[in-house]
Amino acid sequence: MQMLVDYHTHILPELDDGAKDFKISLEMLEILKNQGVEQVIATPHFYAHREKSVKHFLEKRQRTFEKINSNSPLPILLGAEIAIEHNISEIKDIEKLAIQGTNLILLELPYRKHKDWMSEEIYNISVEYDLKVILAHIHRYLEYYSKEQIQQVLGTDAVFQINNEAFASFREKRFVKALIKQERQLVLGSDCHNILDRKPNWNLLKRRPKSSVIELSNGVLDKYKL
Ligand SMILES: [Fe+2]
Repeated sequence: MQMLVDYHTHILPELDDGAKDFKISLEMLEILKNQGVEQVIATPHFYAHREKSVKHFLEKRQRTFEKINSNSPLPILLGAEIAIEHNISEIKDIEKLAIQGTNLILLELPYRKHKDWMSEEIYNISVEYDLKVILAHIHRYLEYYSKEQIQQVLGTDAVFQINNEAFASFREKRFVKALIKQERQLVLGSDCHNILDRKPNWNLLKRRPKSSVIELSNGVLDKYKL
């Protein structure tokens, strides 16, 4: 039995629009634990145009992690959710944002029509640094993309991350089912930001038919461990 992994969380406090303080951060971790999560991956937003450098971001992340870690009810692996911007693959130290102890890296596509340069950045990051790209909440782009653009994104050699809320939407659930049928690599995440409107939501997956998806998701972390 593999453990339940949350691949996408904003539980680290005071770094982005996620947990606003240490108290909320610990509350979120407690809720995740109660929902059956056994491994959390912390993925604070990384926007290259807003950060001084990757090094500076990593120092901030480390400081906040150290404050929370000793009180955390769950083990935390450090990562980031990197916004795909022009030339993101050429940013110094970008590979250091890979999920700790793995060669997985979580990238977030812009919320607009898909363009060739985005696929090129995904390709460049994976090839340049020998990383496996995870594309964040891929079902969220259905409303921005044409059928052809969806096919273009699905044509990238990425792991697709699904937010749990997709299982509560008819259209998104159908999309996820199609990915499973095509034997694509999927990982799940809560993408939790707080304890109100974007709270930990593993309760949406409680019903039995989801167990095979959970197995698929958990397996990815093992597969790409260094
Ligand atoms: Fe996120």
